[in-house]
Amino acid sequence: MTSGERANHAREESLTNEVVRSFAAADTRLEEILSSLVRHLHAFIREVHLTPEEWSAGIDFLTEAGRITDGRRQEFILLSDVLGASMQTVTVNAPANPVATESTVLGPFFAEGSPLLLDGQDIARGAPGSPCWVEVEVRSESGEPIPGARVEVWGAGDDGLYDVQRSGDEMANRAHFFTDSQGGLRFWGILPSAYPIPADGPVGRLLAAAGRSEMRPAHLHFLITAEGHSPLITHLFVSGDRYLATDAVFGVRPSLVVDFPEHPAQETAPDGRRLERAWHSMSHTFVMAEAGPSKA
Ligand code: BEZ
Ligand code: FE
Repeated sequence: MTSGERANHAREESLTNEVVRSFAAADTRLEEILSSLVRHLHAFIREVHLTPEEWSAGIDFLTEAGRITDGRRQEFILLSDVLGASMQTVTVNAPANPVATESTVLGPFFAEGSPLLLDGQDIARGAPGSPCWVEVEVRSESGEPIPGARVEVWGAGDDGLYDVQRSGDEMANRAHFFTDSQGGLRFWGILPSAYPIPADGPVGRLLAAAGRSEMRPAHLHFLITAEGHSPLITHLFVSGDRYLATDAVFGVRPSLVVDFPEHPAQETAPDGRRLERAWHSMSHTFVMAEAGPSKA
């Protein structure tokens, strides 16, 4: 290293330390987060030797993300998702538990206020797609059924869209249920389809520039809550989907990939119905971790 380089290095270090010190009076956790953020951010700028033009392009990117964000579109969550930051947050907060169902990202299409449906009802409510019979069981780590668990479920239609992305306020392919005395519930829905994440904004351009896929493999979302247990936010993915290895948001866990077998038209469904068209089915047992510190 030349003496000039050594002087520059010292100036850069000194600036980082000065900024870190400026947050010293913040509350302890805030200080921990900000000082680490500043150190990593400065290290990144120094490592790639960020130019003023590149810094400016980054600011323009964030400005555009802010402009496109509204009540129905959240470009910053999308950015966090494609950078793997959402999934890394899920990962650090879900210590390895050998029995509980694994978590994955919530995604931007969860909506409050879904209809409460009863066992055996149809959540599709007009969303397009092939009918799918779903059977779910919710159990504790010790294998006991959990009655009264609240199971929220939502998914895209085979047009690749969630209800909140279509015009109008009608909720479709989205509902919540409570498990019965055996911890079970059943419903009709639609076979999940792969779909692209919203790609008409800065995040879509970022993926295109990197030659990355904007597709999410076919999946159905679940949010399950039960007294005495940690909330479970997860998906079930359709086995065989061509995008499982290239999920745009890194949300796939092998343990969450399940079969959705096809049944011919006229085969009697578990609720006694005989449909005029082919249908699919899926059954899965969710295991909820006990609330409180992990025992793993
Ligand atoms: C979703 O699965 O709904 C989703 C997750 C992350 C980004 C976009 C969509
Ligand atoms: Fe989704």
